[in-house]
Amino acid sequence: MQNLMTSTTGTLRFPVARAVEAEEFYIRPAEHRDAAALSAVEREAFPMQWPPTRFSREVTRRRTSYLAAARELPISDYTGGPFAPQGSPRDSEAGRGILSRIAASLKQISFIDGLRGAEAPRDYIVGFVGIWFIADDAHIVSLGVRPNDHRKGLGELLLLAAFREARRYGMREVTLEVRASNSPAQALYDKYGFREVGLRKRYYIDNGEDAIIMTTPPIANVEYAISLDSLARSHAVRWGHLLQPAT
Ligand SMILES: CC(C)(COP(=O)(O)OP(=O)(O)OC[C@H]1O[C@@H](n2cnc3c(N)ncnc32)[C@H](O)[C@@H]1OP(=O)(O)O)[C@@H](O)C(=O)NCCC(=O)NCCS
Repeated sequence: MQNLMTSTTGTLRFPVARAVEAEEFYIRPAEHRDAAALSAVEREAFPMQWPPTRFSREVTRRRTSYLAAARELPISDYTGGPFAPQGSPRDSEAGRGILSRIAASLKQISFIDGLRGAEAPRDYIVGFVGIWFIADDAHIVSLGVRPNDHRKGLGELLLLAAFREARRYGMREVTLEVRASNSPAQALYDKYGFREVGLRKRYYIDNGEDAIIMTTPPIANVEYAISLDSLARSHAVRWGHLLQPAT
């Protein structure tokens, strides 16, 4: 199957031959009506997070971007279509069958429907990244993917989208904090050239763990921009995910 892909430059479009028939994921800006779905992702990706993020406020903050990784939720999902969303880890304990996946999807919907005046979800959010633009620094405040969708290139897709935002806002570098014990996330950041620049002792209040501060080289640096572009291309060929919804 062929797919049209947009590069990180936002202009170049090239065909991608997919090795396997993949689920179609894309990135889009998170909106006010996504708040409940974002909270659900946060509970799954960051079970120890306290206090929970107030996404309804966060998505409307100035000099902030929240981006969602999502896939479409066509009507056929409710009748067991081939792209029926998967549920939370708790659901997977009860089996990964089509019924449990539909139940998980409906759970997300009814949760949202429970909010006064909430609109129906437009798709199924599997992850998000939050970025604060502080002076010339794009600070990634949160990046998480639902555990059932780990290792599908989505954390990387969200990171690529964060780089695109940083470039769009003219930021000099990208910075974040990561738990000292979080080796999957550190491997992701290493892959994208983040380097340790400091430590915040006992930063996390839940277990007193240290935070490692990591920063990229200047993103406009030619060498770094070339390596970023190459990573984006490899990711596109490997996964076929979209940096924006297909038009
Ligand atoms: C960290 C996280 C976002 C990665 O998301 P993901 O979608 O599973 O990651 P991807 O499939 O895009 O993997 C991209 C790269 O990350 C690294 N990586 C991801 N998971 C890894 C794991 N379990 N072990 C080792 N490396 C891992 C690898 O370098 C990988 O590249 P590769 O596929 O070429 O090996 C995800 O594990 C997560 O949501 N964790 C919980 C929340 C969290 O810790 N967020 C980070 C806070 S700083």
